[in-house]
Amino acid sequence: MDRKEWLKSAVFYEIYPTSFFDANGDGVGDVEGIIRKLDYIAGLGCNGIWLNPLFCSPFRDGGYDVADYKRVDPRFGTNEDLVRLFKEAKERGIRVLLDLVPGHTSDTHPWFRRSAEAARNEYSDYYIWSPNVWTDARGEGLRTVNGMCPRDGNYAVNFFSMQPALNYGYAAPTEPWQIYWRDARLLPLRREIEGVMKFWLGLGCAGFRVDMAASLVKNDADKSATCALWREMFSVVRGEYPEAVFVSEWSDPPRAVGEAGFDMDFFLHFGACEPAYMSLFRRGAESVFSRGSKGAFAPFFDTFVQMRAQLGGNGFIALPGGNHDMVPRLSDGKDEAVAKAAYAFLSTLPAVPFFYYGDEIGMRYQKLDSKDGGYDRTGSRTPMRWNGGKNAGFSDAEETYLPVGEGESAESMEAREGSLLHTVRALARLRRTQPALAASAELRVLQKEGVAVYERSGGGQRLLVAVNPNGAAVSLPFAAGKALASEGCTLEGETLAFADAGYMIAQI
Ligand code: NOJ
Repeated sequence: MDRKEWLKSAVFYEIYPTSFFDANGDGVGDVEGIIRKLDYIAGLGCNGIWLNPLFCSPFRDGGYDVADYKRVDPRFGTNEDLVRLFKEAKERGIRVLLDLVPGHTSDTHPWFRRSAEAARNEYSDYYIWSPNVWTDARGEGLRTVNGMCPRDGNYAVNFFSMQPALNYGYAAPTEPWQIYWRDARLLPLRREIEGVMKFWLGLGCAGFRVDMAASLVKNDADKSATCALWREMFSVVRGEYPEAVFVSEWSDPPRAVGEAGFDMDFFLHFGACEPAYMSLFRRGAESVFSRGSKGAFAPFFDTFVQMRAQLGGNGFIALPGGNHDMVPRLSDGKDEAVAKAAYAFLSTLPAVPFFYYGDEIGMRYQKLDSKDGGYDRTGSRTPMRWNGGKNAGFSDAEETYLPVGEGESAESMEAREGSLLHTVRALARLRRTQPALAASAELRVLQKEGVAVYERSGGGQRLLVAVNPNGAAVSLPFAAGKALASEGCTLEGETLAFADAGYMIAQI
């Protein structure tokens, strides 16, 4: 099926593999564990999975420090396990996206080890090096690590110091040693990264979430070289795998989708989307989705609607409820009614929703010491709470790698009528089945203060959606027909009365 087609009604589930389910009892989640929980994910109504990196790594940044792009880290299992996951997921109508980290590797990656050698070799230009240790490799915003290698030079880093930046060149070199991004010396690296994509696509993954997608070409103020680079790499990879889906971590959808050619770009808590995204969640009483909050939907809708219009039908905005970087978890500042309203909002916008594992059962952020370079993010990455048993059903181990937190489990939510889990499932189903809720269908915002009210239309259907994020009692004139779903409110005649936080999705 055309990749744009299934994305229109897709609902994704993000998994941090270390913490989802431990099948072999060593205290760490694994690929086999994810396979065993596929029915849960399918039952939730998700038809896409994004897996955080599970490749060989020293895990000094949660696996975003890759040491071998083509091999599953033994902590999670084997390549054969991952291929089996692709197959079993496909049998349940689920497509799997892997996490591609093209901007940097671990400093333990063999490419970097060779690049750091004093004698020139085929990997010397794979990373960005200054000409000697007395000169910084600075480009705009670049930091360097100095005096750590046999090579007489300092290397540029893309994130933490043990994540040397791969060399896609400079858009506007200012020093003789900075390589112009179109220089043929940089082609071997590009071919390697394209090769990584083809390798996993050939084994059955559906595509990639792309880490720090904007970071590739340096001194590229308007990102035009980075966009052109992506278009060129896509034409190579999509030539062989036209169905491959790419979602960028860029947080600038008009640029990432419109110019670089991604199918989706995340609307995130930093960059161009930051104020709009943060107005929704995680700023306590200043966020709209928080009991008693006075926040308004205007900052979100104003940016969202404008950015969406700029995509020109080339792709979609991906809207996450949370992810492995966001602190705290979505549940922050929300009781169950407010959390349900948040999920209703995520599920009814013309964007592709991404649910972060555990948010559907209201898992809480925990204050923890850093593990695997997570720092404060570690508390958003704790083991999934499956049931009331040992380690909340996550693992049989005496001690789990990350501590299991407190809270309700999926099993108990399943048994409890009216729980958040049941709401999330119902909303995901609606999202998948109602044509007017598709990412491609129209949006008309009718009210941005207090309760959000908007119309969605497409595929011969018109729906009116109202979302009350903060529990204020409010009545609205609401000329609608049959409600497809509602909580916290009643529709009497032409008045929609909210007694609590909640939502209504009705036909008009
Ligand atoms: C973004 C990832 O989501 C984050 O977890 C990681 O630390 C950085 N990129 C560096 O790769």
